[in-house]
Amino acid sequence: MGCGVGTSSLALVPYAKRVIGYDPSQAMIEKATPHPTISYTRLIDELPSSCDLLCFFGSLEYIDEVALKKYTQLLEKGGQLICCDFEVDYQPILELMGFEPMTTDYNHSKNLTQYPDYVGFKEQDRQVESTSFSCSLNQLKSLLAAEFENMGKSTIVLDSFHFERENYELKASLYYARYIKL
Ligand SMILES: C[S@@+](CC[C@H](N)C(=O)[O-])C[C@H]1O[C@@H](n2cnc3c(N)ncnc32)[C@H](O)[C@@H]1O
Repeated sequence: MGCGVGTSSLALVPYAKRVIGYDPSQAMIEKATPHPTISYTRLIDELPSSCDLLCFFGSLEYIDEVALKKYTQLLEKGGQLICCDFEVDYQPILELMGFEPMTTDYNHSKNLTQYPDYVGFKEQDRQVESTSFSCSLNQLKSLLAAEFENMGKSTIVLDSFHFERENYELKASLYYARYIKL
């Protein structure tokens, strides 16, 4: 649910006979990466009436209680729901650039407990992990550009700032929760 351009749908392919990527955005569905075992749709009526796994990868934060209820009705009893997201720590880079820390209302750790009427699911697993990854200067710039745009900040500085290295190591937190439908 909230498949975007299909990155997370592709990640599910080795574990599923059939994957359905749903996203309300036509623009996302049009850009989604095709795969023989994935079908993409932006129409809720095209989703199967029953599925055994419902995944929210980086999308739960956009989903209100009404939509969540609609989506979880598609899950069969005993089926599983997974939500996960990640948060990159940009503070060391921002400090280097002379910026104040960025603040955001986006809740990267959102899970079912944040819905007041959270019933009918049993939590099986919840984890927070730390990781780090390296990225090229171009990748760093496009990550920062997306963050700046989300904050309504101009991205011009990314072209004028003199970055001294070609590769950067970034830290990130990974949030994961898994539930079973009762
Ligand atoms: C950060 S993207 C995650 C994309 C994808 N899951 C991935 O991991 O690559 C969040 C997606 O949630 C979608 N979205 C926004 N509101 C939604 C809703 N109410 N129901 C389902 N998806 C929604 C957006 O269109 C966007 O494509």
